[in-house]
Amino acid sequence: EKVFPAGPYIGSIDNGTSSTRFILFDTKGNIVTSSQSEFPQYYPNAGWTEHDLDEIYEYTVKCIENVCAELEDNGISPSEIKAIGITNQRETTCVWDKETGKPLHKAIVWLDVRTRELVQELINKTESKDAKHFSKKCGLPLSTYFSAVKLKWLLNNVPQVEEAHKDNRLMFGTKLTGGVHATDVTNASRTMLMNLETLQWDEEICQFFEINKSCLPAIKSSSEVYGNVVAGPLEGVPISGILGDQQSALVGQLCFKQGQLKNTYGTGCFMLCNTGSKPVVSTHGLLTTVGYKLGPEAECKYALEGSIATAGASVKWLRDNMGIIGKASEVGEFAQKVDNTGGVYFVPAFSGLFAPHWRDDARGTIVGITQYTTKEHICRATLEAVSFQTKDIMDSMEIDSGYPINLLRVDGGMTMSDQLMQIQADIAGVEIDRPSMLETTALGAALAAGRAVGLFEDLEKFETEASVSKFKPQISAEQRQEMTKGWKKALEKSMGWV
Ligand code: G3P
Repeated sequence: EKVFPAGPYIGSIDNGTSSTRFILFDTKGNIVTSSQSEFPQYYPNAGWTEHDLDEIYEYTVKCIENVCAELEDNGISPSEIKAIGITNQRETTCVWDKETGKPLHKAIVWLDVRTRELVQELINKTESKDAKHFSKKCGLPLSTYFSAVKLKWLLNNVPQVEEAHKDNRLMFGTKLTGGVHATDVTNASRTMLMNLETLQWDEEICQFFEINKSCLPAIKSSSEVYGNVVAGPLEGVPISGILGDQQSALVGQLCFKQGQLKNTYGTGCFMLCNTGSKPVVSTHGLLTTVGYKLGPEAECKYALEGSIATAGASVKWLRDNMGIIGKASEVGEFAQKVDNTGGVYFVPAFSGLFAPHWRDDARGTIVGITQYTTKEHICRATLEAVSFQTKDIMDSMEIDSGYPINLLRVDGGMTMSDQLMQIQADIAGVEIDRPSMLETTALGAALAAGRAVGLFEDLEKFETEASVSKFKPQISAEQRQEMTKGWKKALEKSMGWV
């Protein structure tokens, strides 16, 4: 029989790209219980990805209800839940009508590349004709990835969105409890519209995109009470922590010191390094972003980020599109059956290549196939691809942050695979540390929420009870070099395809 740790509890809503979860933590950071559900993805055209906002809401409510029902079945009152944190896929663009509260379009997901041509037009419109024109101000290049470009596409292509914008009815971003229209600094820093120094919407950039500031949410810190739940089993509970999922994992991994970094393997893969109280400008293809601001009066901490568009998504593709595996965990089992890929390289550039290349003209490619190639080789090449992409980011991160990387702290669903972890250690040539509690993304938002209602005094002193598994490199430097040479060649092949 399951034993529940003593309350109080903190709930964390984790709205990822592929699934939504509601996870309960105790105040030591242990998971009390959770409920998770994959939700539908819509692919209306090649390269397009959408989510239904009502569906995300329904799936989230269901997860919360499941958890509360489980507590009650075990004689525990949901009133033990004292605060709720929210962590979410970033950049994904939602628009809704202020008067009806209804979505005006499906959400355009962060990895959607429909804005490729628009990005080119926007670059041409800048004075410098450079994708990095606004990078100093907002930390991000003009790319299909960020929300402002997606919002611009909606304004240009969807008449009801354009009309609502004209009538000042358009609302961009999350509709929180009771219709509160707010976001936190980490999410705002992924739009391109926020100035990294002032932490406010930037006049010049908004004008450039012709986006009316009235449609933008209020920017708050990552840890304060935004409102209370208005209905259901958690009615009255404060929502008091919000972070974009990658920044939330940075907090959940307790990377509070300058130079500390983590790598999260989800739908995509994201390495963030805490760079302290000043934004650091990258010269090697990384992004500058807000790391966290834990309270309205707290200092803002910044991070350098290396974003990989396709990680877990390539395993999902093997499962759902190719039928090579029946469930995600089989990718590791098959990969382990072969010692190498037999010369096969898979570059899963489904949404182009993000950091450090920023090539929206790249597309997925598999090279080196022979008659000898089996699905085991393809599975291994898929795990290697995630690891090579991470290594490329590590190389940029070491130079831009100025901190040598001797160890990589990882988390996220994919890291459950020991095979991936060993391949990653071999390809990166450094030790990989995997905590026993992998839901660090959800933990970050829970910590922020708990802090705001007085459950924690100083998060920088917080310690978890999680243990760590270590994976050490087992191949020679020559072998690593040889494999990397092949990867670089394959990468070249994927670029310029569109
Ligand atoms: O920037 C996109 C990122 O926030 C998505 O994260 O965990 O859903 O891959 P994930």
